[in-house]
This record gives sequence, structure tokens and C-alpha cells, in this order.
Amino acid sequence: MVEHQQQQQIKRVPRARGFYVRMKLLSTTKNGGRLVPQLEKKGFFYRYCKWVLWLSLSLYFFSSFLISNHNEQQNKPTTSLSTTHFSTFASRALFESAAINNTTQQGALFDGLKIYVYDLPPKYNTDWLKNERCSTHLFASEVAIHRTLLTSDALTVDPYEADFFFVPVYVSCNFSTINGFPAIGHARSLIASAIDYVRVEYPFWDRSHGADHVFVAAHDFASCFHTMEDVAISDGIPGFLKNSIVLQTFGVKHHHPCQEVENVVIPPYVSPGKVRATLEKSPITGRRDIFAFFRGKMEVHPKNISGRFYSKRVRTELWRKYNGDRRFYLQRHRFAGYQSEIARSKFCLCPLGWAPWSPRLVESVALGCVPVIIADGIRLPFDDVVPWAEISVNVAEKDVGKLAEILEHVAATNLTSIQKNLRDPRVRGALLFSDRVQEGDATWNVLSALTAKLARSHRRSRVSSQ
Ligand SMILES: *[C@@H]1O[C@H](CO)[C@@H](O)[C@H](O)[C@H]1NC(C)=O
Ligand SMILES: *[C@@H]1O[C@H](CO)[C@@H](O)[C@H](O)[C@H]1NC(C)=O
Ligand SMILES: *[C@@H]1O[C@H](CO)[C@@H](O)[C@H](O)[C@H]1NC(C)=O
Ligand SMILES: *[C@@H]1O[C@H](CO)[C@@H](O)[C@H](O)[C@H]1NC(C)=O
Ligand SMILES: *[C@@H]1O[C@H](CO)[C@@H](O)[C@H](O)[C@H]1NC(C)=O
Repeated sequence: MVEHQQQQQIKRVPRARGFYVRMKLLSTTKNGGRLVPQLEKKGFFYRYCKWVLWLSLSLYFFSSFLISNHNEQQNKPTTSLSTTHFSTFASRALFESAAINNTTQQGALFDGLKIYVYDLPPKYNTDWLKNERCSTHLFASEVAIHRTLLTSDALTVDPYEADFFFVPVYVSCNFSTINGFPAIGHARSLIASAIDYVRVEYPFWDRSHGADHVFVAAHDFASCFHTMEDVAISDGIPGFLKNSIVLQTFGVKHHHPCQEVENVVIPPYVSPGKVRATLEKSPITGRRDIFAFFRGKMEVHPKNISGRFYSKRVRTELWRKYNGDRRFYLQRHRFAGYQSEIARSKFCLCPLGWAPWSPRLVESVALGCVPVIIADGIRLPFDDVVPWAEISVNVAEKDVGKLAEILEHVAATNLTSIQKNLRDPRVRGALLFSDRVQEGDATWNVLSALTAKLARSHRRSRVSSQ
């Protein structure tokens, strides 16, 4: 029922937005073209109109996507929906309706933050969505953030009032293998070409050398665009991105060439619909009969790839030491229903892979399983708002052999309080990208992080120096 309510609102939005956009266009032309003469580049007004058309079409497309998603979920049993779960989503639906009819509300919270989303040719973004996995895989925050910004109250259609410019390039979509290993070799040239396009078509890049432009780099080593750390480091961040803001899944607390750019650590993408469906079957307060869970690649004899071993051999050690231990439920093969296993577990292991971060962090938190983070020096997403120390257990890579003792100790002392902290719906929602911005969700936290960087806004610095 709540789902239905939300969906109706979503359906209503495109029309409202389209109307708003049209009104805005009419008033700008009527007022003697306040906007148009300022533009030196020809073709901008044409792009403006095309943008409206594109926005309406894409919103139509997204809402029909949501509707089909919704129908899918409706067929699933909802009898086990717990009351806490229900009230969480009910209050979110209420919040959403308030946000929709009061556009100043989010604006006030984010200090009037305004973001202009570039209208790029589809070869930079929506063309990639022909591969369905592009909008759901673990790197899909690049898609989710773009979509959500387009319906956010922070969106502006007037680039002259924008604080930030979002450049929607999907670089993680091209999969070479079914294992989800992305082919990101084309990322540099695709982004470089998008920047060239933006520089020719709009007048905003050069005035700040990209400092108020925002990109998403949601794969292993962020804007170094390579899966192998040594190659990533030697390639480095391309010069054309160095002055911008990068929303990235990669982050470490120590110096690292792949984060030498203004950045925000964001969570990897996990579908909120999938999480909701799992929670309907296994409520957050349900029985957890698995002590420690991990499903994923654990090589018995990891290959030495130019001097590096997958997971720095942490996963090999995990398998060697705890395979066969009754407290540990370790699986090496893929299983589509793995979220139900997370929902049944007390501790969920989140060891590093090639990069320190993992989607397991998000799934564990969202499903109320205590994440056991084994990735030295990792900088966790939104660590200024998510109370990581209170909701997770940290184990040093070198201590993986003592994991059972460490977890037994936590279970005997403060597991209950960690679980209680995890059950707070605000915590569980903080890492999920909802279809529309919701209070405290991942996009909300992105907006909040950008608000903290408003000093980089060209528009604001000009206003304050006048
Ligand atoms: C705003 O939303 C609330 C809750 O859905 C509704 O009761 C109210 O009538 C709306 N106000 C306007 C002006 O649309
Ligand atoms: C909209 O939200 C702002 C900020 O929360 C509030 O000050 C204002 O009164 C609200 N307006 C309406 C019509 O509800
Ligand atoms: C996508 O990946 C394949 C395999 O790596 C590659 O051959 C192809 O050129 C890539 N496509 C683009 C547009 O880069
Ligand atoms: C891994 O391979 C590199 C050469 O690529 C070699 O120098 C190093 O000794 C190897 N390490 C181990 C532990 O085998
Ligand atoms: C759990 O206990 C450990 C010490 O055994 C402590 O370091 C940690 O902060 C505690 N966590 C919580 C959430 O209470």
C-alpha cells in the first residue's frame, strides 16, 4: 500500500516538473530574454528546449521503470512485514509528499544549493542503459545520482543560478564479463570527450577550470580508472579532472594518488527495492541463526599479479582458517538469494577485494547484520554522518587469523548494543540511493556534502566579492 502511495507521487512529478520548466522558459523569454543574450555560444537556447524534452522523456522512462518494478514487488508476500518496517516507510512517504509540495524546504536545509545537470548526448549516459545491469550493479551510483538529481529540489534549469554542474557520464556500464568486471579502459576518453563537449556548448567550465563541476567515479580506484592498484596509481587521476569534485566509492585515510582531488566518499549502489523485498521476508528483528557470514571470491592459491595478491590474501586466510568451522558460513559461489543469508546473520564479513570497499558494507548495514570491516585504512562513506564506530566491528588485516576470538568477544560483550544502533532506520537508510531524495538517504548525504563545498561555487564567490 505504501509502495502504491509512493508510486502515485512519482507518477505525478514528471508533469509538475515539465510544467515548471515550461513556465520558467516562458517567463525568461517574456522578460526580454534575460537569459539568452548573456549567452555567447549559439545553440544554447536550442539545447535548453531539447533539455526539457529530454527531461520529460527520461522522467517518463524512469517512472515506467518504477511502475514495472513496483508490479514485480506487489506479487511478493507482504504478510511478514513488521510494524517497525512499515512505519518507517509510511513516515518516509509522508516526508516525500511534504518535500514535493514545498520546494523551499530542501533548499533551506541545503543553504539554497542549486545544481545544474548537463544535458549530454545519450552516448555518454542513457545509451549504456540498454544493458539492464547498468542501472543496478554495484557501480550504478553513477546512474542513481543522475536520476535522483533530476527530480531533486536542488535541481535548477537555469545554469546561471547553479552552484554546481553535474556531468552525467556513465563509465562503469561496459561489462566485459558476466562476473561484473567492468571494462573501464574507455573511461578517460569518454569523460575527456564529455568535458570537451561541455566546454564548446556551455560557458561554465573555463571560468572555474571545472572547480564547480561534479563527477561520479564509482569503481575500484575512483578516477584513476583501473582495477589494479599499481596500474591505477601509475596512471593517476587525469589532469582534466584534478580541479573538480569527484563522488567516489574509493577512500583511504592515508595518502593515496587516487584521491588527490576534492572528493566525497559515497556508498556503492545497492537496490533499495531489493533490500525492501528481503526485509519483507526476513524482518530486521528476526532470528539470526548464522554467526558469521561471507559469500564471495576466496582463492585457495591466489595468483601473483605483478607482485599483488587478490584481497592481499586476507580471503585466502579466511577460507584456510575457517572453512569447516561451524560458526562460519563461508561460500565461494554466486547465489542470487545471498541477501536472505545476510538477513539471517549476526556478523557479515566485509574483507577487501582489489580495492578496500565493497557493496557488502551497504547490504550488511541495510539488512541489520553487523559489518566486520577487514580493510586497513579504509575511509568509509559519509563518515561525518554515519556513526561507523557504533555500528560495525573493525578487524586489522593481519588479525584475520584471530577473527573467531574477536567476534566471540564482541558477541559476549556488546553485540546487542551494536545491533540496536544498526536497527535505527536512519542508519540503515543512509547508504541507499532512493528513487527520489529522501531525508537522510544517500543522495541527501551527497547534497549535504556538496553544501559543505559551496565555497567552490563560482556564483557564490562572485556574489560575495561584489
Ligand atoms: C502538501 O502535502 C500534504 C500532504 O500530502 C497535503 O495534505 C497538502 O494539501 C499539500 N499542500 C499543497 C499546497 O499541495
Ligand atoms: C516550507 O518549508 C519551509 C522550511 O521548512 C517553511 O519555513 C515554510 O513555512 C514551508 N511552507 C509551506 C507552505 O509549508
Ligand atoms: C566495451 O568493452 C569491450 C570489451 O572490453 C571493448 O572491446 C569495447 O571497446 C568497450 N566499448 C567501449 C565503447 O569502450
Ligand atoms: C610476485 O611476483 C613478483 C614479480 O611479478 C615477484 O617479484 C615476487 O617475488 C612475487 N612474490 C611472491 C610472494 O611470489
Ligand atoms: C564494543 O566493545 C569494544 C571493546 O571490547 C569497543 O572498542 C567498542 O567501541 C564497543 N562498541 C560499541 C558499539 O559499543
